[in-house]
Amino acid sequence: MGTVSVVGIGAGHPEHITVQAISTLNAVDVVFMMDKGDTARELLEFRREVCARYVTNPSCRIVTAADPGRPHGPAADERAVADWRTRRAEIYEQLIAGQLGGHGHGAFLAWGDPAIYDGTVDVLHQVLGRGTVSFELRVIPGISSIQALAAQHKISLTRAGRPLHITTGRRIAQGFPDYADDVVVMLDAYCAFTEMDGDLDVYWGAGVSSAGEALISGRVSDVGQQITAARAAARSRDGWVMDTYLLRRPDRR
Ligand SMILES: C[S@@+](CC[C@H](N)C(=O)[O-])C[C@H]1O[C@@H](n2cnc3c(N)ncnc32)[C@H](O)[C@@H]1O
Repeated sequence: MGTVSVVGIGAGHPEHITVQAISTLNAVDVVFMMDKGDTARELLEFRREVCARYVTNPSCRIVTAADPGRPHGPAADERAVADWRTRRAEIYEQLIAGQLGGHGHGAFLAWGDPAIYDGTVDVLHQVLGRGTVSFELRVIPGISSIQALAAQHKISLTRAGRPLHITTGRRIAQGFPDYADDVVVMLDAYCAFTEMDGDLDVYWGAGVSSAGEALISGRVSDVGQQITAARAAARSRDGWVMDTYLLRRPDRR
């Protein structure tokens, strides 16, 4: 039976990769990469850079496949997302069947950590469930963008004995939860914090741990506009932006 590893590669710093991830990349026959088109070209380049830097096994191949493209906006209803996942599962299945030859070892690279807002592990479970290919599934953790955010701001995400909530921009736009004082927000295209209590503290970062990193922190009422401007500038410079932030209910209340 073959093996498929999902390898976390960090969120933009080539040294945010574990020794276990490097050993795994050097043990595989093939690294699979999904090409998401022009807007994600730099992310694909980063994956290639990671392999070029760490893979010393000359027989390791890189195989790239076109990603079916996740639906966004109003078209992204539950059914459209489920269809997209099924198409992804079919592509993964074809890659595994065609490239691993029954006993080989392949790796899919996950941005940051595979356990945080990344569908790769779930899609591979779906592939296993379809029953046409069999393999041992392994998951190698990586440094998530939220760990990198905390490190760059030199803060802890959690306060003693209190919960941490991780959510999306769409969810936080519905209101700050009343059961947590510390909320990490990812996948926020609209800077939802600008609609929230200005007395919250925010620790924001775009391209955290990468060369184009931008970091801003302070009270939402003081730095909110500065963050939206920095986000817009990064987006117009690169054509895309990945940002995340911690919203913290301050103790000063
Ligand atoms: C699909 S999720 C993937 C998260 C990833 N698995 C992780 O562990 O960081 C993409 C979101 O992660 C966040 N993100 C990823 N890389 C980032 C970075 N270098 N700086 C800031 N946020 C980042 C952004 O919120 C982005 O919208």
